[in-house]
Amino acid sequence: MTETLSPTADGIARAAALLQEGALVALPTETVYGLGADARNGAAVAGIYAAKGRPSFNPLIVHLPDVATAKHYVDWSDQADRLAQAFWPGALTLVLPLKPDSGLSSLVTAGLPSLALRVPAHPAMREVLQTLGGPVAAPSANLSGKISPTTAAHVLAGLEGKVAAVLDDGACTVGLESTIIGLTGPCPTLLRAGGLPSEVIEAALGQELKIVDGAEIIAPGQLASHYAPGAAVRLNAAAAETGEVLLGFGQMRCDLNLSPSGDLTEAAANLFDHLHRLDATGRPIAVVPIPDHGLGRAINDRLARAAAPR
Ligand code: TXA
Ligand code: MG
Repeated sequence: MTETLSPTADGIARAAALLQEGALVALPTETVYGLGADARNGAAVAGIYAAKGRPSFNPLIVHLPDVATAKHYVDWSDQADRLAQAFWPGALTLVLPLKPDSGLSSLVTAGLPSLALRVPAHPAMREVLQTLGGPVAAPSANLSGKISPTTAAHVLAGLEGKVAAVLDDGACTVGLESTIIGLTGPCPTLLRAGGLPSEVIEAALGQELKIVDGAEIIAPGQLASHYAPGAAVRLNAAAAETGEVLLGFGQMRCDLNLSPSGDLTEAAANLFDHLHRLDATGRPIAVVPIPDHGLGRAINDRLARAAAPR
């Protein structure tokens, strides 16, 4: 059965040892919990796809302890350097050209010539990466298409018995997946809105990000129906209709409130937890409008996918 580990020296050592043996370990990051495997071990990476029930074409993010390590795996660039200096460790993933002989399992990139990399800020995750001394492939630790986990309890609700261990370090502070920027073409491209607002990235680059056309699925996490609760989700609701539970924002009466004070950072941190809780009621979920700026853009992106026809 799945072991629950604490973020103590023993817990960190156990998590790293399990990864070293090729086992799957769910790990906390500042964005969401990740389902980790040693990215050099093909059998371990295959285990991620099996545990999540994930379509095999969907490539994974590789987590590293620092920028220096990243340069072993990809063709580095000035733009990568600028973004890494500004935002790593943090909620930013960079997609760069994969070097041949990277030593990574080809399942990590699902055969693509590019690789998604992130240096996370979460202290326990960083200690695991340093102790392992290797790259960890980790998608969000949920069943494919379901709501992302921001607590160890969310992880266990979907993956109990399917992973060797979960390293429980409480709730994720950001609560939304990393922002993904593609740096494989001439223009830096926003592949997924996320925990780092795109305005902040544009300011650091001194240029606007190209937005991918919705029809062109470059990051398969961008599939229209994703992050889906079991029940139906209705957006931009003025109020709950009969039978619905209401997810609110700002001062109002509702079943759960993303942020009573109307703070988007707080709303992002609560989003997936509140969706998990409302989903557990088995009733359809109505969601009030959320401001569409800063982190609100990523929140609205996730809500639109949760509400998409399946
Ligand atoms: O915050 C996060 O990013 C979390 C934590 C655990 O790090 N991870 C996460 O991973 O959200 P996942 O697998 O749920 O989403 C990764 C996204 C997918 O949409 C995938 O298609 C995209 O990254 N991706 C991975 N490699 C890519 C590549 N080479 N080119 C384009 N997109 C890529
Ligand atoms: Mg995911």
